[in-house]
This record gives sequence, structure tokens and C-alpha cells, in this order.
Amino acid sequence: MGLVAAGGITFGGKMAHHPASTGNQLVSTASLPGPYTLPLAVPKVLAPISTSGGSDAFEITQQEASAEILPGTRTDLWTYDGTFPGPTIESRRGRPVTVAHRNELPVPTVVHLHGGRTPPQDDGYPTDLVLPEGWSGEPLMPDPQARTTDVTRDYTFPMDQRATMLWYHDHRMDFTAPAIWRGLAGMHIIRDDVEEALDLPRGEQELPLMIGDRSFHADGSLMYPALDPTLREHPGVAEEYSAGVLGDVILVNGIPWPVHEVDAVRHRLRLLNASNARHYELEAITDDGHRLDLVQVGADQGLIGQPVTHESLRLAPAERYDVIVDFAGVPVGSRVRLRNRLGTGGTREVLAFRIARTARDHSHIPEILADDVPRFQRSQATALREFSFRAGQMMHGRGWVIGGKAFEPTRTDVSTSLGAVEVWRFVADVHHPIHLHLVGFRVLSRGGGPPLRQDAGLKDVISLRPGEWVEIITRFEGYRGRYLFHCHNAEHEDMGMMANLEIT
Ligand code: C2O
Ligand code: CU
Ligand code: CU
Repeated sequence: MGLVAAGGITFGGKMAHHPASTGNQLVSTASLPGPYTLPLAVPKVLAPISTSGGSDAFEITQQEASAEILPGTRTDLWTYDGTFPGPTIESRRGRPVTVAHRNELPVPTVVHLHGGRTPPQDDGYPTDLVLPEGWSGEPLMPDPQARTTDVTRDYTFPMDQRATMLWYHDHRMDFTAPAIWRGLAGMHIIRDDVEEALDLPRGEQELPLMIGDRSFHADGSLMYPALDPTLREHPGVAEEYSAGVLGDVILVNGIPWPVHEVDAVRHRLRLLNASNARHYELEAITDDGHRLDLVQVGADQGLIGQPVTHESLRLAPAERYDVIVDFAGVPVGSRVRLRNRLGTGGTREVLAFRIARTARDHSHIPEILADDVPRFQRSQATALREFSFRAGQMMHGRGWVIGGKAFEPTRTDVSTSLGAVEVWRFVADVHHPIHLHLVGFRVLSRGGGPPLRQDAGLKDVISLRPGEWVEIITRFEGYRGRYLFHCHNAEHEDMGMMANLEIT
């Protein structure tokens, strides 16, 4: 595949002059609530419809619904089971989960469990559509391997993987970005005995937090520059937004700039950046200007080996970070704000905690968190592949390409054999958060130097910064079949920046 080096790109760490995110911001015309006035909510945990036969079965209806996101107005959404975010699925490592999805939306959908170690037929390949009743549309790019179903589909997830927080979201060919924007995203937690033995903060002190940006029209409806607002036929966004759509309202679990009452003890924040294109750099600041440590205990694919303490933490789209913040000593009645150093105006604010009372802390952060984080050695690798992620030409106009090529479902871009260890080297023009399906990977290097401290552990998204090259290493294990890797800037993904990985 095409490669490294092109004029005008600086390699390495010199990135002084680049924007915080790649994309263009929509300016809301709605009147917006002040930050830290609305209470945080945690999405409800979905109850299984059956737990017999060694697996858990769930049902989700994909449906239109509306919610009062901005006080006094309603926002029409596309939802999993009527809420945004969708309900959280809780599962146990090694215990399979089946989710029966029913599509009552006006367009085809595809469910992908992001970070899941899932057989190919259940991984939500973009052409494996679940068609709504009476659908007559034709695919833009026919795919003979597509497994479409009418109205419903059972997705089975073996859950044979480390405990962590995954998320599920729409992955329909050409229309993933607007579908996620409209609300098709939810969280999925995998638990296991090893992690539960650790005494990390739990119960009320464990908070799954889906962070996403949106913009709103005066009537409360979502803004989005889709070329075809019905999302039926013509993919893509207005030209000025083709680098990514940024909102000016920061939602946490679907609520604009919420505030949450806490005891003055450690809390475990399970952070997910579910934004289409926005990057965040989070820091926790007390009212009197002190910064609290963000102690990282986990990455996309579960616990890291040892805790890593950060003053601030960058989150690229689709990344998850598992972080402990200790509110001990913060005066009762005062706040700790989680702020975004990459934001300006409203996008600088994210979430606030109001300290309600002092309390005994029963939690503990061990010095060793996990001893099962895979360590792949460069010497084990049987291939080194290089991929460039850049602006380029698609079939119909400008888009985003990998190694010079825009996505085609029928073309195999990489083929490897089950069990192979490989080093992949990525180079970027602008920000590209690159995601591999099926496998977790380790970050080997950035710009020829060591990874960032926050690159610790097993990841499934790697944030490429403008002009940067990064190496990752992984073993392709689990299942044979057709998988994807792609940019998780959702607009880039829809506009070509995706490729096929065939495991044989
Ligand atoms: Cu989060 Cu291919 O997906
Ligand atoms: Cu994924
Ligand atoms: Cu990209």
C-alpha cells in the first residue's frame, strides 16, 4: 500500500500549529442552558429477556423518539430503545450475549459492537444491513458478500475478551456519521472476577460517561449538514464540513454540560468520546483552581498494567479511558469541573461534580492493575505494513483515502493469517483516529520516539496527530473473515477512509 512521505508534512513531535480538532463547527441557534445547571443521568442498564442456557439475551428496538435535551424544547432522535444514549448492556467475560435488534427506523441500519471480539457475521459489516419494513432503496456499492436481513437481526457476541467498556453504534455504509449524530450509540460494559477483586470505585462511584458534541436549531432539532437529510440516498455532508462535523454543545450521557453530586471520595470515570470529530483534552479543576490528578487505570481494551497519573488526558473520537479522580479534601459545597483544554467558549466546559458530603472511601488503586496485558515483540512480527491517511479523491469528488484508495467493500486491502503478529505504521495529514475491528493492539512508537504515556495498555483506537507517524503491533487472533479498519472521524469514515482486512 502507498506510503510515508509527502511534501509539506512534518514528521515527529513538532505540531505547534495545528487546530485542536479536524473539522468545522456548526453554530447553534437554539438558546442553550448555562453550564452545570442540569443534573447528570446515567443510562439505564438493559434488563435481559432471558439468562438461561449459558448466555444472556437482550432486545433493542431501534426507533424514532424525542427527548428534552435543551430545557423547554424537544429534539427528535434516532434511538436504541427510545433513549439517547441507548441503554447500557452489562455482560460477564466468557458469557455470550445475544442482542435482537429490531429496526423501526426509516432507513437501513447496522449494529457494530466497537471493541468487541466478534465473529465476522455479527461484527456489523457496513453492508450487512437490517432493512426497515418496505425498504426499496438500492445500495450505492453493491456487495455480493452482504448479509442483509429484513427488520430484525440477532447479533451474538461471545464476550471472550478482557473486562472493559465497549460501545455499540450504527455502522451503515456511507451513513454512519449522521446516524450516530442522531443518537444511535450506547455503552456496553464487560466485567470479570479479576477486575472486581481490585476494589476500584464501584456502584454510585463508577460512572460511564459518553461525551459527544451536537448543535441545535432554535426549535430544538439537531443541526447536521447532510446532503440528503432523509439519509436515504445521497451520502456526505456540505463541502465545508467534510473534514468533520463539530457541535458547540457538549453532551455527557445526552445532557448538556451536566452537574453531578458526589461524595468526597474516589470515583471511577469510564470516559468514552462518542463525538464524530471532536477531540478533548480533559482536566479536573477545583473552584479554587487546583488541578486534580487523573489516574488512568484502563484503556480501550481494559485495565492497563500499572496506573498512570495525568494532569490532563486527550480523547480522540471513539477512544475510552478509565480514570480515577479523588475528591477527598475538596470542600463540601464546592465543585470540580472537568474542562476541555482544546475547547473555546462553551466547548471548554464538559461536566462538573458538586461535592455533597464527606464519606469513608472503601476503594483502592493497586500498584499493579493487571498482569495479562499482551506484550507483542517487534521480533515476533511477520509483516510491517504502512498506510497513509490523507485527503484524496473518491468516486464522486473529494474524500479521505487510505494508501491512496477510497473504501470499496469488494476489495481486500490487507490479507493476513490467523495468529500472525504484525507491525502497522500509520501516517497522517490531519487528525485521524484509526480503529481496528476485532483486535486490540499496543502502541510501539510515535514519530520514531516512545508512545505517549496515555498510549499505555491495549487499545483499539490510535489517535494520529497532524503530520505524525505511529506504529502499532498486534496479533490477529479470534476469528477468520472479513473485518475493517478505518478512521473514526465519522465523516472521514463515511467519505472513503475505511479498508478491508481479511483474516484467513
Ligand atoms: Cu466504532 Cu468500525 O467502529
Ligand atoms: Cu469497531
Ligand atoms: Cu480521518
